[in-house]
Amino acid sequence: MKIIKTKSYDELSSLAADILFEQVKRNPCSVLGLATGSTPIGSYDKLVQYYEAGMVSFNSVKTINLDEYCGLCESHEQSYRFFMNTHLFNRIDIKKENTFVPNGLAKDIYAECRHYDEIYESIGPCDIQLLGIGVNGHIGFNEPDSSLVASTHCVTLSESTRAANSRNFASLDDVPSKAITLGLAGIMKAKRVLLLASGKAKLEAIKKTVYGDIDPHVPASFLQLHSDVTVICDFDIGE
Ligand code: PGA
Repeated sequence: MKIIKTKSYDELSSLAADILFEQVKRNPCSVLGLATGSTPIGSYDKLVQYYEAGMVSFNSVKTINLDEYCGLCESHEQSYRFFMNTHLFNRIDIKKENTFVPNGLAKDIYAECRHYDEIYESIGPCDIQLLGIGVNGHIGFNEPDSSLVASTHCVTLSESTRAANSRNFASLDDVPSKAITLGLAGIMKAKRVLLLASGKAKLEAIKKTVYGDIDPHVPASFLQLHSDVTVICDFDIGE
């Protein structure tokens, strides 16, 4: 894994945005695997700046997001579809039909998961998969467990994830208990992985990811098996 330490969140965001920008410049038909959460917001803002400056077009880009809460509609402010529309898609020239986020309202969640894998197969693999990381080492919503699931699946969110994400909801009770997530296979299929971590709260998770055993209790540690991973963090991870 290539580890890049930046001095600030702003620098981290610029670096990640530049990698995505270069990818789209190189191949205007790129497929980008995108993430939600607070970490990528700065990078999305930079990409919007590049778009507004006329430096790049997303007209032929396709995107596949990692995950979505079960039970939230697209117009719910905490749904990940709403997040992506607000922070990126509504601000650039991407075609909405080329942006994919699991449908958290699907009546048959199992069928939705299979459908999402089919979408991935038809438009993937991603040229770059952007990832954040949970304090518990999750990527997407692949939570620590005794084993991990390869395909897109429905997960029961861990209490630590619900607690961490409750900052965006009125109360902990409002945080959905289930979500749909791309599995480890989808993430690992990407040609390149870009993992972002901001703030010391992520230090232990990143250390285990980079230096620890490959362990399903630290899902991100499986990235050690990928041949092209760049970790960008705004703190020192030592040896
Ligand atoms: P965060 O979430 O970017 O809001 O810290 C990351 C994650 O939980 O994957």
